[in-house]
Amino acid sequence: MDNFSQEHTELLQWYKNNGRHDLLWRNTKEIYHIYLSEIMLQQTQVNRVMSEYYPKFVEKFPTLEKLSTASLDEVLSYWSGLGYYSRARNLHKTAQKCPDRLPEDINELQKLPGIGRYTASAICSFGYHQEVSVVDTNIARVLKRYFATLDVSDIEVWESANKFLNTKEPTKHNLALMDLGSIVCTPTNPLCENCPLSISCLGKKNPELYTQKKKKEYESLELFYGIYGREDKIALVKTTGKMYKGMLELPTVDPIEENFIGQFKHSYTKYRLSVKLYKIDNLSDEVIWIDLDKIDSTPISSLTKKALKNFLL
Ligand code: ADE
Repeated sequence: MDNFSQEHTELLQWYKNNGRHDLLWRNTKEIYHIYLSEIMLQQTQVNRVMSEYYPKFVEKFPTLEKLSTASLDEVLSYWSGLGYYSRARNLHKTAQKCPDRLPEDINELQKLPGIGRYTASAICSFGYHQEVSVVDTNIARVLKRYFATLDVSDIEVWESANKFLNTKEPTKHNLALMDLGSIVCTPTNPLCENCPLSISCLGKKNPELYTQKKKKEYESLELFYGIYGREDKIALVKTTGKMYKGMLELPTVDPIEENFIGQFKHSYTKYRLSVKLYKIDNLSDEVIWIDLDKIDSTPISSLTKKALKNFLL
């Protein structure tokens, strides 16, 4: 009998009745698909991943081997709109390093591009069903409240996850904690009356004490882009800066008032962008000509797609 056997039983019962069992990546044994889902879910909401990006990506690149032989541009075009493109670049690099199978060893996994402690444990737990704990932001909040631990380091949260791990059903236990954090033990107004852990939860009197206050820091930027079209083609350039690195976008220009076409606002990761478009007559940059009817199958930044759809097509 382990120290938490009663709580483990209640938690798994709660999960059986309330867990998000229909998520596609919870219904596959394909390790690569589980890994892909974790990468997509890092910065993108479950519904968007599930309804759009994950099924399309899996259909196009069904195996690590297929992903490894695809061009980076092709991979990026399937990521277009998801943002944080380094995720797609790392996914591609990892597929090239391991085109047959991802390692089963948690430390070996963490040596691969874009795989940190969370993703490695998620692969080991949800894919390989190993006896490992998993800590994402939802699970961390549940554990901090349950053990009433204030101001703890990430390492200490992982230690409490290890202490609380249900070694008989580690995979379901981790998924249950994740769903509990998302559905019941929410950042504000947690539903403690519905919580299977509430009897022994040490933080339930002041759950808000254990909530990490995440300050959203936005950065406002004004950007100027040039539109240079030829019949049914548009001139684009490959971005080298941090934002949209590797994707194609309109060339940037110095703003000249008489060439002004229009403006719009766009959000990308932490940036709140105010975009102004200008007609250009001469091209100075090396450009890549893209057919306007191919923009959906080309790795073009969401900002540029928006500009083209609103002002050109
Ligand atoms: N199931 C497995 N991993 C998940 C995640 N990161 N988010 C939501 N559900 C998941």
